[in-house]
Amino acid sequence: APILVLNGPNLNMLGTRQPEVYGSATLDDVVELCRKTAARFDREIVAFQSNHEGALIDRIHAARGVESGIVVNPGGLTHTSVALRDALVIPEVPIVEVHLSNVHAREEFRHHSFVSPIATAVIAGLGIQGYAAAIEFLSTR
Ligand code: DQA
Repeated sequence: APILVLNGPNLNMLGTRQPEVYGSATLDDVVELCRKTAARFDREIVAFQSNHEGALIDRIHAARGVESGIVVNPGGLTHTSVALRDALVIPEVPIVEVHLSNVHAREEFRHHSFVSPIATAVIAGLGIQGYAAAIEFLSTR
């Protein structure tokens, strides 16, 4: 089954959004990297980005029984959303939480994640390589 790559609010602006923090790669670059990484393991990905919490939740529900794992960068919802965290439990698949930046080296409000306690693994600070690492992990487990 494919791996779902989910990106939350503002990640559609990657490349132009604070490149000193998030790098110059675009969301298309991220998706392409995920696709290529998965292909090395004969796996496929499906990518979804939304700025809307409810749309992300609907997509997570649809993953149940369809996708085998989820790579998620919840953006700012990481630090605010109980609903997103509750949704991520529903498909009963491994979850890898990815942050481009090292959230622990940034503002205090970025240190807490509602998602981390239900994630199989958490990657922060590797830039877009974090997505590739997450795909490799989910492809080979
Ligand atoms: C982020 C970190 C979050 O704190 C921030 O709100 C984002 C991006 C990251 O990838 O580093 O939107 O998830």
